[in-house]
Amino acid sequence: MRNLVMALVMAAIGVSASGQTAVKEPAAALLPPMGWNSWNHFANHVTDADVREAADELVSSGMRDAGYVYVNVDDTWQGKRDAAGVLHPNERFPDMKALGDYIHSKGLKFGIYSSPGAKTCGGYEGSLGHEAQDAKMYAAWGVDFLKYDLCSMQDDMRAVRAAHPEDPMAEYKFMIAAYKKMGDALKATGRPIVYSLCQYGMDEPWKFGPGVGATMWRTTDDINDTYQRMLNIAYGQVGLGKYTSPGHWNDPDMLEVGNGGMNTEEYRTHMSLWAVLGAPLLAGNDLSKMTEADKAILMNREVIAIDQDKLGKGGDRVLQLGDFSVWERPLSGHRTAVAMVNASVSGRDIPVEFAAIGFPKGAKVHDVWAGKDLGHIRVLNETFPGHGVMLFIFSE
Ligand code: GLA
Repeated sequence: MRNLVMALVMAAIGVSASGQTAVKEPAAALLPPMGWNSWNHFANHVTDADVREAADELVSSGMRDAGYVYVNVDDTWQGKRDAAGVLHPNERFPDMKALGDYIHSKGLKFGIYSSPGAKTCGGYEGSLGHEAQDAKMYAAWGVDFLKYDLCSMQDDMRAVRAAHPEDPMAEYKFMIAAYKKMGDALKATGRPIVYSLCQYGMDEPWKFGPGVGATMWRTTDDINDTYQRMLNIAYGQVGLGKYTSPGHWNDPDMLEVGNGGMNTEEYRTHMSLWAVLGAPLLAGNDLSKMTEADKAILMNREVIAIDQDKLGKGGDRVLQLGDFSVWERPLSGHRTAVAMVNASVSGRDIPVEFAAIGFPKGAKVHDVWAGKDLGHIRVLNETFPGHGVMLFIFSE
């Protein structure tokens, strides 16, 4: 019933249930966007200098050349609006155009953050009532990516609900229209800007996202730097793989690799799962303090190639047996990425019959993290470490 009503809502505002829309396609991000975002490490203390340093580190570490090109300033860059409604950055960001130019001079792209509400989640200025004005300003600054975070719009939604008790969908119409308003405003600038919805996975943004011009949409509430939270987010992605396609990405939130709360095996699981889901890869660590292990995880070329596979399909879970799960993603060239996750704290010998995961004839197997071919096999007999992962490419 709810789905039917949502479809009617979307039709009413010019968004079809299939996600196709009257407005033009969004900025092409035919592969999941890759880059860095300030929030997971710097949170509300981020400065212009931190962002410039991240840009420098993306280049010197080799991350840019591995594909991490977006440099995204998250919440708390905003200052006040002037009498003409123009939003100025705060004292930590003296000149956004200059920052954008600096980022571009390094062969990188510039991302920014706002909210459809009056206030961002950090309590800074949102874009409500200033959508077209803000979009034009972003374009003038050279912005290539906008994360648009629901935040205080939830209060407006509650007010709409109270004002329209006769219409149970009033608040959703209101929210979808708000996201579409900025999507249209970005398009009207003529500058390709990746449009990233942050709505915590409520109200199935994977269904209305494409129709409001979005390139990607958060499918979950915030990640944090713990194995349990990361794994729970992955479990929450089950069934969503089919909503991913080139230019339209489910976003299970930014990476925590390198932030110190998980061990190497756990971060490898995080990276493997995000690649197999076809998720955007936005590093969230302090790039100036990466260990060799962090770099090896973030810059493993084969793992990145799984994430960036040109087929652009999503991945999904195919098996869950207690703490053990198997995830698969179809890749180009009749290959399949397969991640096997041991969520138990103990190491375990786990025999995996390939017939149970969709390969009755077995497969030619490449172990991605080990970088070695295992030949054609039908059963895998491996010892998985506690919280361990194995990532494979299967081919016929
Ligand atoms: C929300 C988002 C986070 C981050 C913060 C910033 O919690 O989900 O990703 O952008 O707001 O305030």
